[in-house]
Amino acid sequence: MKMWSGRFSQGPDAEFERWQRSFPFDRVLLPHEVAASKAHATALAKAGVLTSDELATTLFALDQIGREGTPEADEPTIEDVHHYVEARLFELVGEVGYKLHTGRSRNEQIATDLRLYVREQTDETTRLLAEFASTFVKQAEEAGDSAMPAYTHLQRAEPVLVAHWLLAYVEMFLRDIDRLSDCRKRLNVCPLGSGAVAGTILPLDREAIASLLEFDSPTANSMDATSDRDFAIEFVQALAFVALHLSRWAEEFILFSTTEFGFVKLPEEYSTGSSAMPQKKNPDALELIRGKAGKVFAEATALFSGMKGLPLAYNKDLQETQQPVFSAAQQVSGMVRVATGFMGAVEFNYAAMQRAASCGFMNAQAAAAYLVRQGMPFRRAHELIGKAVRLCVEQSCELEQLSRDDYALCGIDADQQFYNALALNEVLAIHNVPGGTAATRVREALQTAKEKLSQFVGVAHACS
Ligand code: ARG
Repeated sequence: MKMWSGRFSQGPDAEFERWQRSFPFDRVLLPHEVAASKAHATALAKAGVLTSDELATTLFALDQIGREGTPEADEPTIEDVHHYVEARLFELVGEVGYKLHTGRSRNEQIATDLRLYVREQTDETTRLLAEFASTFVKQAEEAGDSAMPAYTHLQRAEPVLVAHWLLAYVEMFLRDIDRLSDCRKRLNVCPLGSGAVAGTILPLDREAIASLLEFDSPTANSMDATSDRDFAIEFVQALAFVALHLSRWAEEFILFSTTEFGFVKLPEEYSTGSSAMPQKKNPDALELIRGKAGKVFAEATALFSGMKGLPLAYNKDLQETQQPVFSAAQQVSGMVRVATGFMGAVEFNYAAMQRAASCGFMNAQAAAAYLVRQGMPFRRAHELIGKAVRLCVEQSCELEQLSRDDYALCGIDADQQFYNALALNEVLAIHNVPGGTAATRVREALQTAKEKLSQFVGVAHACS
């Protein structure tokens, strides 16, 4: 039976009917629709609308519907997932199935189902991100005290520990996890009992419904509850940040895998060859991650602009908020999974990184710092070391290869301690502040990152 045919003397235009259906995509909400329906049925029994036998029959059948899953093929007579559950319930239990919709509306149902979906995906994405970030921690541990250049303006700037570089990405992904958990906090309220717009017509125990579905509380306003999609926007925006960070990571690894850099050895299991050039090993996994990031941004924009200007309360436009959520969640899950596999398999050319860290005047600031420690004002020291660098460029050598006489020409008294201060280990060691690249600081940072991540691994299982 249709859900709303009584008032109409004729059916909808066939093309319009096909076109407005959401079942082809909202079928993924089936487990949540079943859970929400069970909670509503329980409240109906408490309110005296269902007898205890009818409740038992209804719950039993709803469980069966959940276990069956949605049909393989689309069912053209079914409008949406809410219609599907009602129709299947009627097939299974007959007339009593039509009691379930007492005191509720699809407007509150979709608002509830989508929240449950986003909550589940938030937990799953958190778990995936924590696993991904853990591969950086593992690689950072393996890197030990190996060094590499850090770049600003993509020009060699200062040497850092490889571990320090890898932990920079962990910070990005920890922020993403934090954004997801913030989004989860706000979304975890239950719209059931809001009715179509003004609140349900029955004395339903909304607190009990909310707690059955593990929501923190019922929503506070029926008009907002049935039309709010902020939680969906926040979730997809949080995913857009994940995609943004993944694309930065992918780009840097692509760059570092080029012959010109030679820092990253592409794992064969995440690379492809060329049908034309026999020598090629291409970073396709990274390129696709970089490419798919744009699609996630597009979904975030679609959601945001789809909500613009919607008057209170439910409008059918809201049906269009579902697909961007499903698509962004699927895209990001695939991207993080592949990225995790890649990071587990990738190898670094530590020798090439160390070589690159040891040349290109990246000890210039440390040299100036040495002069500062001797009492020279920094601006003066900067100027003198700059002159020394100019001399090096003329002589095609490094600062540590310049003679004492050359330094004297620049106005620098280069004693043995000055030369010692130019050594890579010394340069790394002077960045001895929290958040800096000195080995002891990086070891502390590694420990902190591990502790932070350990609380998230397995979070999805804990919450389901
Ligand atoms: N499929 C609909 C959606 O996703 C369910 C709500 C329909 N409500 C209505 N008043 N037509 O938005």
